[in-house]
Amino acid sequence: MPGPDPTLAMRRALALAGDSGVWKGANPAVGCVLLGEDGQFIAEGFHRGPGTAHAEAAALASLVAAGGSPAGATAVVTLEPCAHQGRTPPCADALVEAGIARVIFGQADPNPAAAGGADRLRAAGVEVTGGVLAAEAAALNRVWTESMSMGRPVVTWKVAASLDGRIAAADGSSQWITGQAARQQVHELRSQVDAVLTGTGTLRADDPQLTARPAGGWPTTEQPLRVVMGLSEVPSAAAFRAPPDGRSQVLNTRDPDQALAALMAVGVRHVLLECGPRLASAFLRADLVDRVVWFAAPILLGGSALAVIDDVGVGTLTDARRWQLRELREVGSDVRMDFSRAGVAPGGRLEVG
Ligand SMILES: NC(=O)c1ccc[n+]([C@@H]2O[C@H](COP(=O)([O-])OP(=O)(O)OC[C@H]3O[C@@H](n4cnc5c(N)ncnc54)[C@H](OP(=O)(O)O)[C@@H]3O)[C@@H](O)[C@H]2O)c1
Repeated sequence: MPGPDPTLAMRRALALAGDSGVWKGANPAVGCVLLGEDGQFIAEGFHRGPGTAHAEAAALASLVAAGGSPAGATAVVTLEPCAHQGRTPPCADALVEAGIARVIFGQADPNPAAAGGADRLRAAGVEVTGGVLAAEAAALNRVWTESMSMGRPVVTWKVAASLDGRIAAADGSSQWITGQAARQQVHELRSQVDAVLTGTGTLRADDPQLTARPAGGWPTTEQPLRVVMGLSEVPSAAAFRAPPDGRSQVLNTRDPDQALAALMAVGVRHVLLECGPRLASAFLRADLVDRVVWFAAPILLGGSALAVIDDVGVGTLTDARRWQLRELREVGSDVRMDFSRAGVAPGGRLEVG
């Protein structure tokens, strides 16, 4: 009998992960296909999100439910089986206990807390091959991968500014600098992230809801966590605390690292920073901004208007980070520019066009 075709089985596992409905949040999309000793397909499974079975466990369960046996089988999985005890037991152990003889995986686990599954499997006598269609597997979970390798959420800073880089006029008026189409895109951006973060200054000035309200609506269950950061007291009646789902958080800190660690701990992997100059500057000074989505409105507000940032620690030109332009397009009467750090691939659904 011919051995299993790892690439074909991996393509199926990738399709399962891609269709899993998992595309943001704490956990990655993962698919798994089980092949019998003769190389024939015997079962498959995928991860459905935090708190549910991992793909390997789902595939094993479906095989057992159908009366099959995994002993001697090959598991083809898009991500290296995990080695850590989270809400579910380590997949590497589950595969060993099930008697799996061979594991073929795509992407190596970028999460230092969960990595080591391949070594654990090998130590238990399982034949392991990694890196099969690894780039495709990593592309499924770009933001998650980036977040896991950095050990903090990815931060996208959104700006809506005048051509001269101002975000409010001299009298403080800032609604609206950009047009309706750009504002709709901001709602789409919010729908693509796990949390929207602002400072107490913006809260006082605008009392924003921070919810995703894209054209065509957005499921309540997928609203981002709304977060306000700062030491001032936050009124209990503030709009960001209001339904649809009541998921909001106040971070009583001015330390961006601490804020991101707190958000990481509650499963946030992607933060949209929508704030005034003070908080934005703090994140930039700490080098914690990974992407910039800049909407430039065709107006000029002049020197006494509020600048998009204040001091970010750039004393001389060579101190300044040069961002890499990823995309440029017209949005109504405004211009949208997407930037990322040089060398960092743009991620997830923020990658447009
Ligand atoms: N056009 C846009 O894209 C846009 C978006 C958002 C806001 N805005 C405008 O921005 C203006 C508000 O600006 P802002 O600078 O006051 O707002 P902000 O940056 O949102 O909030 C500033 C406040 O955040 C708190 N904070 C938390 N961590 C901080 C840190 N590391 N460094 C400094 N402050 C920290 C401080 O308050 P505590 O004393 O409470 O710690 C600070 O006063 C408003 O006019 C608003 O309309 C424009």
